[in-house]
Amino acid sequence: MNVLVIGSGGREHAIVEALSRSSKATKIYAAPGNAGIAELAECVAIKDTEVEKLVEFAKSHDVELTVVGPEAALAVGVVDRFREEGLKIFGPTKAAAEIEASKDFAKRLMVKYDVPTAAYATFTDFEEAMAYVRKGSLPTVLKYDGLAAGKGVVIAETMEEAEATLRDMLLDTKFGEGRVVIEEFLTGEEFSLMCFVAGNKICPMPVAQDHKRAYDNDEGPNTGGMGAYTELPFITPEDHAYAMENIMQRVADAMVAEGVPFTGVLYGGLMKTPNGIKVIEFNARFGDPETEVVLPRLKSDAVDVFMAVANNEQPTTEWTDEATLGIVLASKGYPGSYDKGFVIRGTERVDAKIYHMGTARKDGELVTAGGRVMIVVASAPSLEEALNKARKEIANIECDNLFHRTDIGAKAFR
Ligand code: AMP
Ligand code: GLY
Repeated sequence: MNVLVIGSGGREHAIVEALSRSSKATKIYAAPGNAGIAELAECVAIKDTEVEKLVEFAKSHDVELTVVGPEAALAVGVVDRFREEGLKIFGPTKAAAEIEASKDFAKRLMVKYDVPTAAYATFTDFEEAMAYVRKGSLPTVLKYDGLAAGKGVVIAETMEEAEATLRDMLLDTKFGEGRVVIEEFLTGEEFSLMCFVAGNKICPMPVAQDHKRAYDNDEGPNTGGMGAYTELPFITPEDHAYAMENIMQRVADAMVAEGVPFTGVLYGGLMKTPNGIKVIEFNARFGDPETEVVLPRLKSDAVDVFMAVANNEQPTTEWTDEATLGIVLASKGYPGSYDKGFVIRGTERVDAKIYHMGTARKDGELVTAGGRVMIVVASAPSLEEALNKARKEIANIECDNLFHRTDIGAKAFR
């Protein structure tokens, strides 16, 4: 069957690779794909948000299954349009993707259905928001409501910082029309629990942990993710069962009850707090870079899994027992400004998986073309071995403008 993957990052490279292991996916297209994906799929020059062009492509190339990677494509209703045309697609409708796009929607749903999450209130008025913050304790968590590419969350340590942030978000409309969710500050280990969801039928993937800060010891600015690993020794089977029952299944059921059934990957960004596991955020898609360490462990046929979800049937999965750990190579300066076009050599010597995130081919050579450039993913019987292997293999990659964290997985070794 012909399969189309929408997106162009490391996540989509991992999805394409999982599909390439299936005997059922005879032809894989990626729109727009990247230089790494091009080794496994035919890349077509259509952007992830060019919905009509994607529909047209799927129809004219007998695409029987489309898998959506990025949130941006969901937000412009790619799933709704494909379904209108009778095309099979893996991903949530625009209405269901609100669970990621609107923090207020996600919060209201959680309160209504008794899903554990931080206490919160939503404001559009600056003075009212300030009065709420003054009544509460510090630090306080301020989240701009809407898609802000991960930049809309500020943890304010002082009243001055809270005030300046709320001014930005509500008065200067720096991010657009202002609405802010103010949340109780939670502490504990964060982890990501992704589930395949088809209405109320859900199936978990192995839990993973992202590393959002740019530098070792979780220092520096927030990024799109500098590395990830699976499994997590501090998440017990009891924790997992609790999160599945009281968070993931409950939310899947709630979405059905609300008339916006979810289809695709529901990503729970969870925290193991002293008062139990609570929700930090939901995403309506595969996490990045979690997908790059989770999907290599998928033993089931990826076409079967995605197709079951697209057909609203119960997905079932099998996973290897291996620990998997990925280290991101990013352009120096990222997540701030950075230069592109640096030649990358030595990838052929790497005895581990490499998923491309921001690369290009220039005069036959592989060059950097984004903030996050690639992720090197190693699998081994233990996390420690996986970390050592990833570190060793990454040393084969030569490029003048890359940096990476050396402490991925550190929380698992404490
Ligand atoms: P979000 O965009 O909602 O995932 O938030 C980005 C990051 O801010 C999260 O990964 C957490 O590290 C942190 N964060 C968000 N909400 C809270 C909270 N209520 N308490 C503590 N940290 C939080
Ligand atoms: N790893 C966090 C995300 O995908 O949003």
